[in-house]
Amino acid sequence: FPVKWAHSTSTMADTTKDDTGSLKEQLAKVFEVSLKVTVPDEPEVLPLIAPCSRKEAGDYQCNNAMSLWSKIKGKGTDYKGPQPVGQAIMRNLPASDMIESCSIAGPGFINVKLSTQWIAKSIQKMLIDGIDTWAPKLPVKTAVVDFSSPNIAKEMHVGHLRSTIIGDTLARMLEYSKVDVLRRNHVGDWGTQFGMLIEFLFEKFPDGKVNDQDIGELEVFYKASKQRFDGDAAFKERAQQAVVSLQGGEEKYRKAWAQICEISRKGFEKVYQRLGVHLEEKGESFYNPFIPGTLDLLRQKGLIEESEGAQVIFIEGKKIPLIVVKRDGGFNYASTDLAALWYRLNEEKAEWIIYVTDVGQREHFEMFFTAAKRAGWLPTDENKHPKTSHVGFGLVLGDDGKRFRTRSTEVVKLVDLLDEAKTRCKAALVERGKAAEWTPEELEQTAEAVGYGAVKYADLKNNRLTNYTFNFDQMLNDKGNTAVYLLYAHARICSIIRKSGKDIEELKREGQIKLEKDEERKLGLHLLQFPEVVEEACTNLLPNVLCEYLYDLSEKFTSFYSECQVVGSAEETSRLLLCEATAVVMRKCFHLLGITPVYKI
Ligand code: ARG
Repeated sequence: FPVKWAHSTSTMADTTKDDTGSLKEQLAKVFEVSLKVTVPDEPEVLPLIAPCSRKEAGDYQCNNAMSLWSKIKGKGTDYKGPQPVGQAIMRNLPASDMIESCSIAGPGFINVKLSTQWIAKSIQKMLIDGIDTWAPKLPVKTAVVDFSSPNIAKEMHVGHLRSTIIGDTLARMLEYSKVDVLRRNHVGDWGTQFGMLIEFLFEKFPDGKVNDQDIGELEVFYKASKQRFDGDAAFKERAQQAVVSLQGGEEKYRKAWAQICEISRKGFEKVYQRLGVHLEEKGESFYNPFIPGTLDLLRQKGLIEESEGAQVIFIEGKKIPLIVVKRDGGFNYASTDLAALWYRLNEEKAEWIIYVTDVGQREHFEMFFTAAKRAGWLPTDENKHPKTSHVGFGLVLGDDGKRFRTRSTEVVKLVDLLDEAKTRCKAALVERGKAAEWTPEELEQTAEAVGYGAVKYADLKNNRLTNYTFNFDQMLNDKGNTAVYLLYAHARICSIIRKSGKDIEELKREGQIKLEKDEERKLGLHLLQFPEVVEEACTNLLPNVLCEYLYDLSEKFTSFYSECQVVGSAEETSRLLLCEATAVVMRKCFHLLGITPVYKI
């Protein structure tokens, strides 16, 4: 039978005084006290807290009893099974104002019902102190997020758009969690294709004057030079010689290279500006001087071997080794990544290095991560730091189920894509009569926020590993799980508060949140779960977890709003505060997802 428990008579000190950390963490602290008392001989045991699997039984549950029982049963314990262990854990809980009641279920699961008053107080505290106090604590101080990383002279394609959007969100979540993030654009600005490009540049512009072509044209330039390279043996030879001259640091070649890079950079920058993404470029060329030293270190550890004229690292379980010096003596993508890893670990002291690319590159990352482990640069235990993570993502598909392409060019022009989203949003706003109601700037800004937000959200809401279909009609729908719907939901909440005519700052100080109705409590509890959701999204590098939370939040708000009258009710103050708290958390979600909120619709 379930045993009811209310406010323990234990004499232990109230540990809940330390009210930092997520709800789950705070609950864990309370259970930790009990575990220390219940099984003093098992100091290693950590509290296992999870949301309750049966919502009617409680809000959270403690799952320690079963595994604890199997640990202690052979050791002459007085307990007779997992349930008595659970009961003892429950009995030994210190007094805590966060818990209203506990009950035992099955083989010792402890269901916890949180105190409604405590939930209300915690939300109010956040309203006063700000949502930054809800930032989760992560076990790292410095992280590198290597994302976007397009290749010079080639168009940025929709895969780079995914990398940019996902990487930016991960960086934002880590930054919110007080991690120092180095946002790195590992652009492909080195390698043999530059010989070909430089030689072609010399041919086309013998006087060395290059017009400021846009990136689209540079792609045409790339294609034309490739054609030249493939079709003319003498040109090919000159191109190969140009690589040598460039890598030897010859002035004329360096200048041409820098020129090509600069033109590309301007094109990339247009996309970043539109997306509101900030990155610091440290391209492949930056790490080039570090490659020989890095390889020497690996050689000293005996990792590098000769194979068919190349220098390679064999990786257990892989048929093909990691090539680090090509047969012609040149370095490649892998040698650069090894040098970059060395630099990030030793010069930048990064404790977590996160790489955002399509899943197609998984093998490459797995291989050089393994090499780094073998070299002793990274611990073999994945839970220890420093650590590396490859954040892979799937393809973007068109309506035909094939790899997404636009009609005009083979690769999708990102700027056009963003422009179209904005144009469509603007048209929808005009249709709703907003052109007459708003200033042209307001119209423009809203169309941008909603349009770009829709593109980002459509990408982020999916588990990143799955392919998803790019569809404007779907992502711009104002119903369903879209940014449009969510942004409108937020604007609606803001308008409720505005229309009440109340000063929300004053209410925060003088009013009080009460969660009397079931829908109010559910919304309140969900708000309080924000920190643990961000923590999960960060730890597992899954932005969709945050999207799910946000969508859920707006649904919980809708239930609350349809059940509970806000303006003009007896509970107006409390409910306005709940509206405000919802808006604050929604805005933080938008911020973390790189979406600009809108305040009116
Ligand atoms: N430039 C590469 C590409 O377009 C992505 C680079 C990813 N970062 C890295 N350190 N390998 O596929």
